Formats: sequence, structure tokens, C-alpha cells
Amino acid sequence: MQPRLETEHLFKVFGRRPDEAVRRLRQGADREELRADGITAAVIDASFRVEAGEIFVVMGLSGSGKSTLLRMLNGLLESTAGSVRFDGQDLTELTARELRELRSKKISMVFQHFALFPHRSVRDNAAYGLAVQGVPRAERERRADEALALCGLAGWEDSWPDELSGGMQQRVGLARALATDADLLLMDESFSALDPLIRRDMQDQLLELQKTLKKTIVFITHDLNEAMRLGDRIAVMRDGRIVQTGTAEDILLRPANDYVASFIQDVDRARVLTAAAVMDTDVRGDEADCGCETASPDTPFTELCAISARLTHPVAVLGEGRALVGVVPRRRLVGFLGDEQGEPTACDDNGDKGGEKVIARA
Ligand SMILES: Nc1ncnc2c1ncn2[C@@H]1O[C@H](COP(=O)(O)OP(=O)(O)OP(=O)(O)O)[C@@H](O)[C@H]1O
Ligand SMILES: [Mg+2]
Repeated sequence: MQPRLETEHLFKVFGRRPDEAVRRLRQGADREELRADGITAAVIDASFRVEAGEIFVVMGLSGSGKSTLLRMLNGLLESTAGSVRFDGQDLTELTARELRELRSKKISMVFQHFALFPHRSVRDNAAYGLAVQGVPRAERERRADEALALCGLAGWEDSWPDELSGGMQQRVGLARALATDADLLLMDESFSALDPLIRRDMQDQLLELQKTLKKTIVFITHDLNEAMRLGDRIAVMRDGRIVQTGTAEDILLRPANDYVASFIQDVDRARVLTAAAVMDTDVRGDEADCGCETASPDTPFTELCAISARLTHPVAVLGEGRALVGVVPRRRLVGFLGDEQGEPTACDDNGDKGGEKVIARA
């Protein structure tokens, strides 16, 4: 299937003689070498695909090139080399007018500090993108109200922006993007300015909206926990390069290098992992026959711990047609929390199974 969005060997260089800089980067030069010559290599050789309906997160520290990358995805910024294709269409082949049309109808952007117009009502702010498109007043107000309701702002349509909290204002920004019916959303640190609790709330709301709207979303963040909560897949950027792309579990369990490994140290593993990631798949068909409580591959880690605590034996994980696909002994749960996934060293008479029994009796 054709991806919604695809980049191939995308570069963005700021400074003199950018083509020469790209040539050097292709030969393995890094950012520092170019910086000495007054050139900034903001994005270096970025290739990825974003599938329809996916939340694709780009995560990296400040200055790693995230915003520059995002701005190339809707043609706000011209790439120095490489290609961006949206629904198979190479953006570099579009005229300036076609690009503007694309940005007003098909691709919406939500920024970190969403600038609302202070002298327009919440409804008019949400309808702004539609007004730019020339949609008649009655229709744009109806669509703005619908989008506001989706974002939990029903009843606030006639308020002024300064009557809303920061989180609510950010929701108006989201509503503005949703009201246009654009099905590609580019979100640049959209929740970063919010208090932690409100931020979590916004993340929940986005995930909830996404269940029904199924937009294609590229979400930028410097927060790995946020990336792991939201992202179907995550690209980790460092110094302009994408150093790993994968699911939260891929990144957590199989970090591509020491940099990614150091990044994931602070991640709350219990919130990310599911039974599929921690189960032992070397199983026999009769292991689940005892009639006890079981899990499914997508049972969250914390729930798995609770089930495990109620059983005296490993938790059986059942897939389609209730077929046994794996088991989770308690030591595996403990091991994954502590980043210790190897085989345990057993003393003479108290191996894994014995240990489980001892724990169960205690
Ligand atoms: N217009 C520009 N001219 C020159 N350099 C730029 C320009 N825009 C960005 N840069 C540089 O490119 C690099 C990447 O910047 P970018 O804004 O993409 O990073 P970021 O990952 O979004 O950072 P942050 O998390 O702070 O928003 C930085 O070194 C920045 O100084
Ligand atoms: Mg940025």
C-alpha cells in the first residue's frame, strides 16, 4: 500500500554552498565539521514512511532538527536534497500555488504556542482555516462547532481566547486543524507548553479522537514518555540524523545504539510494555488448560502484573481463537522492569518454577 507520506534521503542545510555541504555529509561528514565552516546541517539524510492512520512521532533533543524536518513535510521549507512525497506526489514538483492549496486543505499544522486571535471568538478562531479556504460562514461555523465539541470545548464557542486556560487554548488550536478536514496533521511540540496533568489529558484526548478520526499524524516532541504514549512508531533524531525508527517496544527493548539506550533509561517501562513484548513464546498447547485467568498479547504490563499476583503459576497469553501464544513467568515481569531479560542463574534446588511456587506460598 502507498504510504501517505514518504521522505527519501532528505537534507536541509542552512548556510553557503548547501549542495557542497550535502556532498560532504553524504561522504560521512557530521554536523560539527560543517559548523566550523559556518554551515548548519539541520536535517541529514532522513528517510521514513508514514502510513495512513498512523501517529508517527519524531523525538529528539532541542536543536536535533525536528521542526526543520516537519516544515519540509508540507513544503513550508524547501529541502536542500532528497524528496518528500505526499500521496505519491513529489512536493518539489508542485507550484507555489499548489503548495498553498495543499497546506490549506490537506495538511494542517498545530504549533507549540498556538497563537489565537484575541479579538475573535473561540468559534471564529477554530473556523479560521475554513475562512481562509473561502468556506461560507454558516458552514464554517457549523464545522468549527463540531471540531470544538470533539476537543471537549462545547459551550465555549462564544467565549474570548483570554477566558480559556492554556490547555483549552491549545485545544482550540487542535480544533482549528480538525475543522479543515485535513487528514494529515503536523503537530510541533503541540503539548509541550502545558502543565503535566493537562498535557496528559491532551494526549488522552488525541488518542481518543484518533480512534474515530483516524488521521495521519506526525507528532514532534522532545519527551520520550510522550513519544511512547502517542506513537505507533517513533523516529529518534540526533544531531540532524534519524538514528532509530521503530515501535515504542522496539526502541525500549532493542535500542539501536548507546545514545538511544541512554535516552530510554528514564522511561516508565510498565506504561509502555504489553504482554506480547514480555512473554516467553516457547510454549506447549496444553499449558493454558487449567481454567485460570489469562492475558491477551495487548494486555498492558501493569495489568499483567496484577493477574500474575493472583496466580500461582505463569500467566498464559492467548491470541486469536484463544490459542496459546506465550506464557509470562513472574521473574520475566520483574526482569523487564529492571532491564534484565536474560536467563536467571538458578541455585541448586530453587530454579524458576520452584521460585515461583515459593513466592506464591509466601
Ligand atoms: N532558518 C534557519 N537558519 C539557520 N539555522 C537554522 C534555521 N532554522 C533552524 N536552524 C538550525 O537548525 C538546527 C535544527 O533546528 P530545529 O529548529 O529544526 O531543531 P528542533 O529539533 O526543532 O529544536 P527545538 O526542540 O528546540 O524546537 C538548529 O541548529 C538551528 O539553529
Ligand atoms: Mg522545534
